[in-house]
Amino acid sequence: MISLSGIKPTSTPHIGNHLGMIEPAIALQDEYDCRYFIADYHAMTTVHDAAKMREYSHGIAAYFLAFGLDPKKSIFYRQSDLPQVTELMWILSCVTSMGLLERAHAWKAAKDRGNEGAELHGLFAYPVLMAADILIHDADVVPVGKDQVQHVEMTRDMAERFNFTFGETLKLPQARYSETLHTIPGLDGRKMSKSYGNTINLMYPPKKLKQQIMSIVTDSTPIDQPKDYANCNVYKLYKLFATPEQVREIEEKYRTPGFGYGHAKLELYNVLMEKTETPRKIYQDYMDHPDLLEDVLRDAADRARVKMDEVLERVRVAVGYRSRFAR
Ligand code: TRP
Repeated sequence: MISLSGIKPTSTPHIGNHLGMIEPAIALQDEYDCRYFIADYHAMTTVHDAAKMREYSHGIAAYFLAFGLDPKKSIFYRQSDLPQVTELMWILSCVTSMGLLERAHAWKAAKDRGNEGAELHGLFAYPVLMAADILIHDADVVPVGKDQVQHVEMTRDMAERFNFTFGETLKLPQARYSETLHTIPGLDGRKMSKSYGNTINLMYPPKKLKQQIMSIVTDSTPIDQPKDYANCNVYKLYKLFATPEQVREIEEKYRTPGFGYGHAKLELYNVLMEKTETPRKIYQDYMDHPDLLEDVLRDAADRARVKMDEVLERVRVAVGYRSRFAR
């Protein structure tokens, strides 16, 4: 069974990405044939700066490796190393109606906000490229954050329409996501998202991470009063990373006068630093040696190419193009 997913190199991953997609995706490593990639073609809709594109792409690769992606077990590649996907994208475009794309929540939201390249054809066509990413691997499952589930459903629509038109060729994938991980609160209590500027980024240098944590919004209950942990953003985040034992302890502290939000934030910081001690070292080591990352990516691209060529060949023959392997 094949598990496939991608992540855009538009920033350093934040806790929302981490819990929503990165950790669950890596966890499938022993059970599935995992193929994950840096979605740098997708990032092109918003990142128009070559240095940033390179930096964020390496950052994503280092991040996955730091948190346990095993490059021998899994295939972790860079989308733009395998332009086959853009060929499939074009073919899918020709069986995808404008109406389907106009219903995409992500595109509609960007358009309503009036930013993020919503006027670009690339952002409008984004779900078609994503469908190509998935279908070109015959993926069975697609671990994603909940916001991407609709795109996986659109992928199924495109595959069905293709199969209906040209005969059974493409495999229909299944999205895999966690309902409970949907709303990870950001610094201001709204859903953590890069577009809200309210993220916490685990691989930031300690000082910067601490600054983020210290700016979490809390209420104004005075220090000498018991506090309501259930509605506290610091507690909600703490709970996602601490052991049940630690959670019970901090609940007790919230109930005890004298314990302030500053203390709670410090405890959150400590838990995050503790959890990331080893990943931090691995991350930094890779970031200092981009050549090592490039080796991993090159090897992965070679392995991913095999499957992609096979599916693309099937598609080419189905639509009546010459087989790439025929003489
Ligand atoms: N659109 C996804 C996101 O923004 C990234 C992505 C691109 C992706 N291609 C994919 C995810 C294919 C899963 C499968 O998070």
